[in-house]
Amino acid sequence: MNALEAIHTRQSIGDVKPDPVPVDLIEKLLSAAVQAPNHYKVRPWRFVVLTGAGRERLGNVLARSFAEKFPDAPAASLEKERSRPLRAPLVIAVGVDKPSEPKVLEVENMCAAAAAVENLLIAAQALGLAAKWRTGEDARNPRVKEFLGFAADQPLIALLYIGYPAFEPAPTVRPGFEDRTVWMS
Ligand SMILES: Cc1cc2nc3c(=O)[nH]c(=O)nc-3n(C[C@H](O)[C@H](O)[C@H](O)COP(=O)(O)O)c2cc1C
Repeated sequence: MNALEAIHTRQSIGDVKPDPVPVDLIEKLLSAAVQAPNHYKVRPWRFVVLTGAGRERLGNVLARSFAEKFPDAPAASLEKERSRPLRAPLVIAVGVDKPSEPKVLEVENMCAAAAAVENLLIAAQALGLAAKWRTGEDARNPRVKEFLGFAADQPLIALLYIGYPAFEPAPTVRPGFEDRTVWMS
């Protein structure tokens, strides 16, 4: 599959098989991610790869955090929280470094890390994997950040759920670029 084909056929897929993703494929995803452009070559992206019991530990963090927030939550709700990271065999969390010197801008570090995420998603598509970029409250949850080894003020921009697609999805038809584009010549 060439790059344009991978870009055009990529879509968010949450329904994946439980089969593990081999380590060499995970490394290919990460290697594609770090080919992204980044100003001042600060490589602001940080990846945490969660497989197997790593996802269960994240689930425990989510359940504990939910119980703190909702002390009367029924056991079933806690179990639902606990099982959320198990929706895919591979979860890759992506954090962003805060700038360490004045010339480096936070927004540019975020842009670079987001570009790395997109590279990773395109690579997943090219490798026959399905992926979904998730954030939601989990990405802003201080307990989650702490568990992943990120500082409280460090942006956690993605929790990428990845696996082999459970079914062949119908192609996505997206609006074109025309209404978002002005040509100046
Ligand atoms: C920064 C970011 C955060 C996202 N967070 C979520 C999320 O929390 N839950 C979700 O279902 N999808 C999330 N998505 C995926 C979008 O919903 C998805 O890309 C959009 O529906 C378009 O679908 P497509 O990826 O198939 O083109 C996120 C995407 C981005 C870029």
